[in-house]
Amino acid sequence: MACFFRRSIAAKLGRTLQQSEDAFITALSAVPVFKKQQSADFKLPIGTLRISGILPSNVDIQQQTETLANQLEQDSVVEEISAGPGVIHFKVNRKLLVQKMLELFGKDEDDKFGLNSELFNSLKRGTTLVEYSSPNIAKKFHAGHLRSTIIGNFIANLKQSLGHDVIRMNYLGDWGMQFGLLGAGFSQFGCQEKLKQNPLQHLFEVYVQVNKEAEHNEDMKQAARDFFRQLEQHEGEAVSLWQQFREITVVEYQRVYKRLGVHFDVYSGESFHQDRAQEVVQQLQNQGLLKTSKRGTGVVDLSPAGDMSSVCTVLRSDGTTLYITRDLAAAIDRKEKYHFNEMIYVTDKSQANHFSQLFQILLSAGHSWADSCQHVPFGLVRGMKTRSGEVVFLEDVLDEARSRMLHNMSRSTTTKELENPEDTAEKVGISALIVQDFKGPLQSDYSFDWERMLQAQGDTGVFLQYTHARLCSLIRRNEEAQAAIFDPSLLLEQTSVSILQHLLRYDEVLFQSVQDLQPKHLVNFLLKLSHLVASAHRELPVKGSHQDVAQARLRLFSAACSVLANGMRILGITPVDKM
Ligand code: ARG
Repeated sequence: MACFFRRSIAAKLGRTLQQSEDAFITALSAVPVFKKQQSADFKLPIGTLRISGILPSNVDIQQQTETLANQLEQDSVVEEISAGPGVIHFKVNRKLLVQKMLELFGKDEDDKFGLNSELFNSLKRGTTLVEYSSPNIAKKFHAGHLRSTIIGNFIANLKQSLGHDVIRMNYLGDWGMQFGLLGAGFSQFGCQEKLKQNPLQHLFEVYVQVNKEAEHNEDMKQAARDFFRQLEQHEGEAVSLWQQFREITVVEYQRVYKRLGVHFDVYSGESFHQDRAQEVVQQLQNQGLLKTSKRGTGVVDLSPAGDMSSVCTVLRSDGTTLYITRDLAAAIDRKEKYHFNEMIYVTDKSQANHFSQLFQILLSAGHSWADSCQHVPFGLVRGMKTRSGEVVFLEDVLDEARSRMLHNMSRSTTTKELENPEDTAEKVGISALIVQDFKGPLQSDYSFDWERMLQAQGDTGVFLQYTHARLCSLIRRNEEAQAAIFDPSLLLEQTSVSILQHLLRYDEVLFQSVQDLQPKHLVNFLLKLSHLVASAHRELPVKGSHQDVAQARLRLFSAACSVLANGMRILGITPVDKM
């Protein structure tokens, strides 16, 4: 269901200025609710119309604003039109606002709210490949991998809900010298029994041990090199051990990702592109793009002047390929296989240069689709530690979030009524992790803080879950008051109008999010919604109110509950019904 008010106002502007109404759809925006004060519902900055050439830009802007405001006629939908500094404000009929907003709910289509907005008409849909998480086998799963996992999941969810076909891909670090070490070390330090019991832990232990050994033991180093060479030459025994390590790791990760509510359509990895990487180098050579450096490595010249002042190495002097060479092969392969319209890589910002070089080389090699590839960088997380120390495995973070949350919940009486308190604590704990991570701009670094992120009051994931659970409980307890019809004139208090005005912004928030791929817009929208709902709980009681009033209020609360749940799901949070 598209936004009735945005369309009506755009149509009015279209008629007055003799333009198609589409021209005004994105220029109009809902006015943010501020401290529940009375305000207009939509605003139109005149500057935008001057930039787009709809209005002349060589006249006085204030006069232009006032003239247009006077030209626009009020009607039964738009009751007030007024000029502010360079902006026109529109206030719609209050009863109609209540009715039109709330009639969208309660028809089994609650989860579509905002998604069919005319704002999205200009979006190019199609296939989006999102690559995220991408940890390295046998190495540490660090905070950066956790960030990539939840940010990538958010981007995939967002695109999917707006109608893109999304391919979710995990690109494992499953190749390289670490496998030489692991393979060579496993016969000495490894144990099949332990590998079965606690695979990630055991592989990591062996990896640490063999690294230490190789520091002073030349034989170990040689054995590692030999093992890796056997792998590169596809020798049976080496390959089957590597395969075992990889398979076990993927199964383990799948289990942990499931706890996190994350899944992948494809588990790809660097190993898949080993052979193709050599072909890519060959092609670069054929195209005359491959140069040999003084050190004998194969490089591509990326300097604007073509003087080799900035180069990217794609081949070692011993003829082996690098991380970027495999990425080149992987990108080409994905384009051929999935015909994506856009591809998004999510990693920390230290890899920004890597991706910019990757896209540049693809473009020079004639792959014009590289323009539709994008790197979404994020900042560092400081101090992600559990009680037992530094985080090595994703599971440790999830366990700690769950146990801390369980502890906090045990103080509340309602926890005792929960069927599965661990499960609830897990979901709430994860939402705390996500909201802490998503609150600011992705590029910023932040400090991980268990205490702060788990606070029930304040702008946390716990607060969102608490608000959702409280709304669900209100709806459950008043089932008999739920009705298909309601009287809009019973919801004209400022408290309910503010909630509806806030909901008017939902499609804009999603629109903004899909443009810059930043989750903070949606997080802040949902936090604000939760604060407004908290006031509504105080000021608009359902219990003890006359039946008509109870019905109408319940309808408002149900709408807020649906939007909250929808938004949380896009963020990658599973809303809980009780806590
Ligand atoms: N495995 C890499 C790391 O841990 C991230 C991979 C990112 N994706 C890519 N296509 N290079 O740093």
